[in-house]
Amino acid sequence: MKASKRIILNFNNMMKERLGKQGIDSNDIKRLNKKIKLAIKNIKQKREDGQLGFMYLPYDIKTRDEVKKVAELVRDKFENFIVLGIGGSALGTIALRNALKHPFYNMLPSEKRKAPRLFVMDNVDPEVAVGLFDIVDLKKSIVNIITKSGATAETVAFMKILWKGLIKKVGKNKLKDHIIITTDKEKGELRKIANTYGFVSFTVPGNVGGRFSVLSPVGILPLASIGVNIDELLKGAAYMDTLCSNDNIWKNPAYMRAILHYISDTKFGRKITVMMPYSNALKDIADWFAQLWAESLGKKYSITGETVHEGLTPVKALGATDQHSQVQLYIEGPYDKVITFLRVEKFRNDVLMPRNFDEFDSISYLSNKKMSQLLNAEQLATEMALAKNQRPSMTITLPEISEFTLGQLIYLLEVETAFIGELYNINAFDQPGVELGKILTYAFMGRKGYKDKIKQIKLSKGVKKYII
Ligand code: PA5
Repeated sequence: MKASKRIILNFNNMMKERLGKQGIDSNDIKRLNKKIKLAIKNIKQKREDGQLGFMYLPYDIKTRDEVKKVAELVRDKFENFIVLGIGGSALGTIALRNALKHPFYNMLPSEKRKAPRLFVMDNVDPEVAVGLFDIVDLKKSIVNIITKSGATAETVAFMKILWKGLIKKVGKNKLKDHIIITTDKEKGELRKIANTYGFVSFTVPGNVGGRFSVLSPVGILPLASIGVNIDELLKGAAYMDTLCSNDNIWKNPAYMRAILHYISDTKFGRKITVMMPYSNALKDIADWFAQLWAESLGKKYSITGETVHEGLTPVKALGATDQHSQVQLYIEGPYDKVITFLRVEKFRNDVLMPRNFDEFDSISYLSNKKMSQLLNAEQLATEMALAKNQRPSMTITLPEISEFTLGQLIYLLEVETAFIGELYNINAFDQPGVELGKILTYAFMGRKGYKDKIKQIKLSKGVKKYII
């Protein structure tokens, strides 16, 4: 076990000893003892019952090996790997590609990339669709259509367009060589399409929700295809699983983070969760986490049926960039946020700032210092400035950015989300709130059987009156 590569959670800046009356007292945690015990019991039970499928993913060696086989073929054969997917079928892949590959990966010449470029089409913006055709040759592309439900409008819209494009470029008979499907084992239109055409396909396990699926073929196939070491990614997650299986909350980073966020809300009314990586590579981890947190925790009903309207609002920020945009608000604005910093101990590349302009004191202090030193000094400075103003924050330190540390981080945040769902007594794994919007979209787009839905939604009059 690579203990030196373990990511570390520091939550001193959440506590009373540091923040005074704005901080959490260990008695606040003790008072929750019964609730915490029940949450631990429920998580264990649900895991045993097979409800928490994401917890099995780090150990699914059979799927990993199948993915690796296909990825190897794809890596050598294609210039472009195009993912069609949205939400949980896209965000994890984007986050891990950007974390683990070169910052300008798609722009690198192929001899440096040594793997296909990766495009993730996760919106139905027509300008992006047209733009894609300007830069990819479909003859040299593999398209991975990813939708667990099998019929998500945005994904199938793109599929229709690329299907036609592929037929034009490679012919119907060769479609099979250019399409991989990732979907439910049995349900949904995409499974039917995969079976009809005999496409290579992978399964999103039924007990793994979209936003918890990045370590399933949803994420690991595209990532392995561009040369990400998925063995190490899964090992990192499995390692974190050992830490997050500890019933002692003072040793369990996921449970502790969930408890701290829960108390921050229920005692202090802090409903905003900011994630602020001090690393461009980790920027989209905050984006992935925003979906995980928002869709999992934003719920109208509790598990026992009471109307609760729970939810913590995720906010994405980037250090040091957003020090010049958001931090003023975090330090002097309302006391309604908990900030998580992601900090990297050792960067994969570094730059020494040269000795020049040494006649100016306001510039010379940077001479002969590493850029990473400045970035990390800014992170520490922001953390301390927040604490000095009694603003709570936690820091997750990654010894380095690697598959092993990212596997840990992803898994930690997933367990935290599942655990805080238990504390709130809500179902963190469904998303009923997005259904109505989907139904109305179908109605507006003329889907059979949905036409009358618009009439059924009776919005009150006056909508015309308030338009400027
Ligand atoms: O977390 C979820 O379940 C959602 O965000 C889904 O990932 C998203 O709606 C896409 O769904 P699908 O994979 O079925 O196309």
